[in-house]
Amino acid sequence: MPDSRILDIKDLNVSFNVSGNYYKAVSGVNLEVNTNEILAIVGESGCGKSTLATTIMGLHDNSVKIGGSVIFENKNLLSLKEDEFNKIRGAKIGMIFQDPLSALNPLKKIKNQITEVFDYHTDFSASEKDEKAIKLLDQVGIVDPKRVANMFPHELSGGMRQRVIIAIAIACKPDLLIADEPTTALDVTIQAQILDLISDIQHENHSGVILITHDLGVVAETADNVAVMYAGQIVEKGTVQQIFNNPQHPYTRSLLRSMPQNDGINDDLYVISGSVPSLENLPDHGDAFAPRIPWIPTSQHEEEPMMHEVEKGHEVRCSCYKYFYFPDE
Ligand SMILES: Nc1ncnc2c1ncn2[C@@H]1O[C@H](COP(=O)(O)OP(=O)(O)O)[C@@H](O)[C@H]1O
Ligand SMILES: [Mg+2]
Repeated sequence: MPDSRILDIKDLNVSFNVSGNYYKAVSGVNLEVNTNEILAIVGESGCGKSTLATTIMGLHDNSVKIGGSVIFENKNLLSLKEDEFNKIRGAKIGMIFQDPLSALNPLKKIKNQITEVFDYHTDFSASEKDEKAIKLLDQVGIVDPKRVANMFPHELSGGMRQRVIIAIAIACKPDLLIADEPTTALDVTIQAQILDLISDIQHENHSGVILITHDLGVVAETADNVAVMYAGQIVEKGTVQQIFNNPQHPYTRSLLRSMPQNDGINDDLYVISGSVPSLENLPDHGDAFAPRIPWIPTSQHEEEPMMHEVEKGHEVRCSCYKYFYFPDE
């Protein structure tokens, strides 16, 4: 079966109200996710990655201004009523949050946190729910699932808690799984196991996955496609090969260069000095990344940065990529 489009985000804008003014945390985002595909969204902290995820999940209240469209299986999620969204959230779209401890209820047994999802979305009998909960724990690699099912979150290690979170997220076999920095709180060996697990689940369920991370190492090993985000915008997108073998945007190139394994020397502090601007300090026109590469003259940035096609499937924002170099090159 050919892969089909699950999610189609068009011109998405998300603005937060901060002391009476609206500021854009997500700006003009266009993204697609297909079945059998892992799309990684990368960027430093504060780039708008989580805002994008929570917008797809419909988790914002009315104080947040949202424009554009988020088409999921032919429905615009942005125009759904809350009760319609409740049928999709947790069932057709699952989400894995960053912090496995705060995402679990400390007072409830693991088993009940999983069966709760079935209570909401299925009409399984009590024994079916229990059986499926144990099966899910087994599927996410928990040894002795029957025993763990009766434990409380504080009795589990961080890695096991994250496995439980994943079990909850995939309980209803969602067509789309969103994982927001799913391994950030875990140590390196456990990180690799969790990523393998997400990848296995994606293969098994033929789902689409959005994997949010600030870690390009994670992307290289897991993703099919990559979108690089800076200051609320996608600055580059392409296949994992295009992004790693032929990166174009100064931000992508800086991120890649700051990966420690590149040359053993971590020179990121020099390469991308400065930080992601806060919402209040975002320029309303011009290239938001320009202040971090001050050796590139203003005339080489676009006034209203547009996406440019590098080759089929590979796009980069702002023509400054044509002129960019690292000062020590
Ligand atoms: N509820 C909110 N109200 C106001 N500003 C917010 C809110 N949530 C996030 N922000 C701001 O939006 C920007 C993007 O945040 P976020 O989406 O969490 O980024 P990331 O996940 O990439 O670290 C940041 O500047 C952050 O401070
Ligand atoms: Mg985040």
